[in-house]
Amino acid sequence: MIRLPGLIDPHVHVREPGQTHKEDWDTVTQSALAGGVTMLLAMPNTKPPIFDESTLNLALDAAKAKARCDYGQYLGAGPDNAAEVARLAPRSAALKMYLDSTFGQLRLDDMTLWLEHFRQWPGETPIVTHSESRSMAAALWMAQMFDKPIHIAHISLREEVLLIKAAKEHGVKVTCEVCPHHLFLDLVGAQQCCAPTPGRVEVRPRLATKADVDALWANLDVIDCFATDHAPHTLAEKDGENPPPGFPGVETMLPLLLTAVSEGRLTVEQIVEKAVTNPRRIFKLPEQPETWVEVDEKARYEIKAAEMHSRCGWTPFEGWKVKGKVIKVVLRGETAFENGKILVKPGFGQNVRA
Ligand code: NCD
Ligand code: ZN
Repeated sequence: MIRLPGLIDPHVHVREPGQTHKEDWDTVTQSALAGGVTMLLAMPNTKPPIFDESTLNLALDAAKAKARCDYGQYLGAGPDNAAEVARLAPRSAALKMYLDSTFGQLRLDDMTLWLEHFRQWPGETPIVTHSESRSMAAALWMAQMFDKPIHIAHISLREEVLLIKAAKEHGVKVTCEVCPHHLFLDLVGAQQCCAPTPGRVEVRPRLATKADVDALWANLDVIDCFATDHAPHTLAEKDGENPPPGFPGVETMLPLLLTAVSEGRLTVEQIVEKAVTNPRRIFKLPEQPETWVEVDEKARYEIKAAEMHSRCGWTPFEGWKVKGKVIKVVLRGETAFENGKILVKPGFGQNVRA
């Protein structure tokens, strides 16, 4: 048995308000705890999106009533809310900017709309960008121009990790995260192993090539955080017409990473650094006293959506044999999860910015 600190997931789509048929604050935080995640940061592309004071209150009220682990809520950058989100910054996890197309309405196509956000965001916490390939380069340039910290969400490409490496060497205040699905799946491999329908491989950024995956593993030292981009959509939606992009992930991240440890591809120290220490520093998150995760690093089991806590009802890792199981999670002195059972109530979770 090994004991880890509670994991921090800086990239989770909770779906509440507005799309609770996919997930809500209760189910997502149950899934998080079962995966050893004791703190999550919630993305703003809900319905409505979280982009001003009243929508921020809407999300935080739901979280306060229903969350079972600790949480923060992102604000979303819109075309004309730069001053408003800058004012609300202390109550938020950070600012999220969608610069490429994905699920939801928050997208800033016109690059001149990025300027006001980079100018006005206070910069105590980073500007987090969904920016792929060349839009990532543009966002890096703008961060450098305004001397603001930028965190690149879910990098997936060789050219992205190498560009970030160069930017770091030149003193740009850039950090980044990688998702388990971009480390453990490439597009061709996933189509063969794990996708009974085409919708099951749809995710943004798209699954990449084997060469991209290899480049991420070869440059792990450049990558600051592991983040799940837990993006639950129901099985019916994934297998239907126009499948929305996104994978659930908050319950499978730790077992997948521990399996990589057992294969000698990763160390437990790297898990703690990228899933606890670095996200806490980058997002200025509080310590969680008396909080830990007990894992049986020798336990082998098969990933099954039917045994997981997300409402979405599927996982891209169905049937994968993993080694390393979460046995018990203690959060702020309370046993929150033990032997498959959630033991804390809705409302136990605390807002990290309260
Ligand atoms: C996310 C979602 O469904 O909200 N989808 C995804 O494919 N990752 C949006 C996002 O993070 O891009
Ligand atoms: Zn996301």
